[in-house]
Amino acid sequence: MGNVQFRSYAPEDFAPVIALWQTCGLHPSRSDSAERLQHKQQRDPELFLVAEQDGRIVGTIMGSYDGRRGWINKLAVDAGQRGQGLARALIAEVEQRLKAIGCDKVNLLIEADNAAVAGFYARLGYANDALIFMEKWLA
Ligand SMILES: CC(C)(COP(=O)(O)OP(=O)(O)OC[C@H]1O[C@@H](n2cnc3c(N)ncnc32)[C@H](O)[C@@H]1OP(=O)(O)O)[C@@H](O)C(=O)NCCC(=O)NCCS
Repeated sequence: MGNVQFRSYAPEDFAPVIALWQTCGLHPSRSDSAERLQHKQQRDPELFLVAEQDGRIVGTIMGSYDGRRGWINKLAVDAGQRGQGLARALIAEVEQRLKAIGCDKVNLLIEADNAAVAGFYARLGYANDALIFMEKWLA
């Protein structure tokens, strides 16, 4: 992990963050415009983090707290930086920040085409719960 530092997402991170998500297979959606990510940053500046190494963004995590549960989204680590504990550290950082604001349980969702990543989360103490996920885009 070397000289990797965590900091809040900033507007100038938009292009490298989207590029990272694309190369990591995270399917940016219409919620991932520069404006929407800035909106998220303003709402949760301490939970939407980038990992930076020598001025380059090598990881991201987007945490949320809905007043009851914590949520983790957009966990991504640059392919060249994997296997060094960076994702573990990003999750630990957000878990600790969530706990500090009163959260006692963290949830996350995995896209069906990325089911293999469940093994990673299991190593970090996350357990599978067979729920049915439903969604609706608001017009
Ligand atoms: C998943 C991802 C974030 C892991 O990043 P990483 O920095 O390589 O992970 P870490 O080095 O912190 O690994 C932590 C532990 O999980 C293990 N691990 C990593 N990837 C794993 C996998 N695919 N399956 C099982 N275990 C895995 C590591 O061996 C390590 O174990 P240990 O510390 O107990 O020895 C990275 O592979 C990635 O960006 N993938 C593409 C994006 C993605 O799928 N994000 C999740 C969306 S839900």
